[in-house]
Amino acid sequence: VHERSPRRSARRRRSAAALAAVLALTGLPAATRAAQATPTRPAKARQAQSRDVPAGAHPWSNPSLSPGRRARLLLAAMTLDEKVSMLHGAAGSPVPAIGYLAPIPRLGVPGITMSDGPAGVRNGRKATELPAPVAQAASFDREVARSYGAVLGGDARALGQDQLFGPGMNIARVPTNGRNFEYFGEDPYLAGTISGADVRGIQSKGVVATVKHYLANNQETGRTTVSANVDDRTLHEIYGKGFGLAVKQGHPGSVMCSYNRIGGLYSCSDAATLTTMLRKEMGFDGYVVSDYPATHATTDLAAGLDVELPSAVNVTTAKVSEALGSGRLTQADVDRRVREVLTVLFRFGLFDRDTTATAHIDEAADNAVAQRVEERSAVLLKNDGVLPLPDTTSGIAVIGVTAAKSAQGGGSSKVNPLSVDNALDAVTARAGTAAHVTYDDGGDPASAAAAAKSAQVALVFVHDTESEGSDRANLSLPGGQDALISAVAAANPHTVVVLETGGPVLMPWLGQVSGVLEAWYPGARGGAAIARLLWGDVNPSGKLPQTFPAHEGDVPASTPRQYPGVNGRESYSEGLGVGYRWYDATGTAPLFPFGYGLSYTSFAYRDLKVARGSGTPADPVRVSFTVTNTGRRAGSEAAQVYVGKPHTRVTGPPRELAAYTKVTLRPGRSERVTLTVDPLQLAYWDSRARAFTVRNGHYSLAVGPSSRSLPLAVGYDVRTRKRPGAAGHRRPGHRRHRK
Ligand code: BGC
Repeated sequence: VHERSPRRSARRRRSAAALAAVLALTGLPAATRAAQATPTRPAKARQAQSRDVPAGAHPWSNPSLSPGRRARLLLAAMTLDEKVSMLHGAAGSPVPAIGYLAPIPRLGVPGITMSDGPAGVRNGRKATELPAPVAQAASFDREVARSYGAVLGGDARALGQDQLFGPGMNIARVPTNGRNFEYFGEDPYLAGTISGADVRGIQSKGVVATVKHYLANNQETGRTTVSANVDDRTLHEIYGKGFGLAVKQGHPGSVMCSYNRIGGLYSCSDAATLTTMLRKEMGFDGYVVSDYPATHATTDLAAGLDVELPSAVNVTTAKVSEALGSGRLTQADVDRRVREVLTVLFRFGLFDRDTTATAHIDEAADNAVAQRVEERSAVLLKNDGVLPLPDTTSGIAVIGVTAAKSAQGGGSSKVNPLSVDNALDAVTARAGTAAHVTYDDGGDPASAAAAAKSAQVALVFVHDTESEGSDRANLSLPGGQDALISAVAAANPHTVVVLETGGPVLMPWLGQVSGVLEAWYPGARGGAAIARLLWGDVNPSGKLPQTFPAHEGDVPASTPRQYPGVNGRESYSEGLGVGYRWYDATGTAPLFPFGYGLSYTSFAYRDLKVARGSGTPADPVRVSFTVTNTGRRAGSEAAQVYVGKPHTRVTGPPRELAAYTKVTLRPGRSERVTLTVDPLQLAYWDSRARAFTVRNGHYSLAVGPSSRSLPLAVGYDVRTRKRPGAAGHRRPGHRRHRK
């Protein structure tokens, strides 16, 4: 582990920490947080400002010029003060917002409004409450993620927002991380591809997406100071890769640098990750905004930070002038940063439309998307035949507080919903007027058991509490809910548990219950979706994007040095052994593995073929196989392809997700699936060559319904040939053979 010493003074760190504490967002109602960040003023004032100069008055007002050209023209006309004003947040948004860049009326620069967040717009107004972001990853379906993003972008646009702080996509290194519900699970390929699709959805509405929190921001304990000490290869293959995929596949306008340190250096001050990794290696061409606040020096601008949020602390005209005078910053640094910001604003048409316009949100349409996301992402973990519930089910005991009011994650991803349904009403409606449905809030296990005893089926709704700002204390369901489930299961053999959690929980009662459905935080139409899933009106098809451990200690980062860290440093000594990679490498049996999820029908896999390809981007490997619905109901199956790489296989993960898709099949039907394996998934990060490289040797590809159930496998060899003059890049050739 390469440790770099922090450059900031203790005083600076203390004042940043104090500001962070003032802005600590957890627990504050959304409206309070919005008001704290940017006091609002009437829309009219701002419109008057932006009308100071008529449209078309400046050379950069010409929309037929490229965004880069317009940015350069505008930059050339700016004073230092005006340039600096593009590089920090300010007060004065005409519409409620979490962040704001002030307008420059003299030059026709509009004010830029920014708000959270990943699960729905949070600007102090009401918006669509989508299921927890992690549900997108559980769908194993890019189209679900794109539709989710389109709701985010559409709502943001309707609420007068130009930029949305989302998606969040840190890797679930520690299953108790309080923000895992906001992220996309433990696999970088899944997280990156889902994030890319979410970004495309958001940006399809003309709103700038912000992929966050870059980088290695994997715990809330000590979040504003802790240092993630992670080796270069792991940083690239596990923690960086998803961001790289999101950049490549989503082309996000913005990235948010995180609170934590990386190898001792604060993320927003770190040129190695912000400039070398993000811009040079991943090809990011947008602007970097800081978390709230996560800047530590004026020279962060030289490292790769573009915009200090929420307000000017380190990036003021006085401090920038001083840094220019002392040579710690160059004029080129400042100009580059301003140009990066302006180019994105032009690219998104923000100079060319009335960015303050607000509109009506189509609540019914957005809630329908929320419901569909939930239906495609809930994971059926156990079913001994109790599900789907037959139409004749006449006596149902509904138990638990989240049956009456669904769970949501806390912090900046908490949404003030336009409307939200509940499972109790939905179950009652679906059961029909002839059925007898009772409700018990589960506060007293004895009373809940009594209610369950006289029913045909008991549905127990339980939840965890995840929030930005702190990690879960452990993996157990809080508040006596384990005892509640056991009491109900003892009273009724047909007990189904509906989990509303953002991640794994221990299930000491698993052997006593008949069914378990992981519904995540189910969003605005979660009740309707859960009822449809329980009755089989829709067939469950979600798969776990994160391993569910069998025991508290069965986790990759299990020592205090690894988590929560000692003396402010967390040692990522597990290296690539994150999530299922560690369980597989150590032969540890999980409660439920990565990629796992049941259906009301069954699927069979056959005829795996690997199409010749060298593995280079121009000539990628293609995998084809046939999936058949062998049951009696229509259903969707998330088919997964895993690769075992040479060398890595011996010392690290035996297999890693390389491709996935979701197929929908009527009973008896088959589909021939062909997937292209992203060459990145065959490569390893070569720290010396500073490149992802496909290594010589034997590869295996395995296909199936989960990381622990891979009925099809094929091996092939890569023989490298050096390409003349291509340092660090190898051109592999392939020989294929069956195992
Ligand atoms: C969170 C970010 C969020 C920002 C603005 C910070 O505390 O870490 O995710 O976007 O606040 O609300």
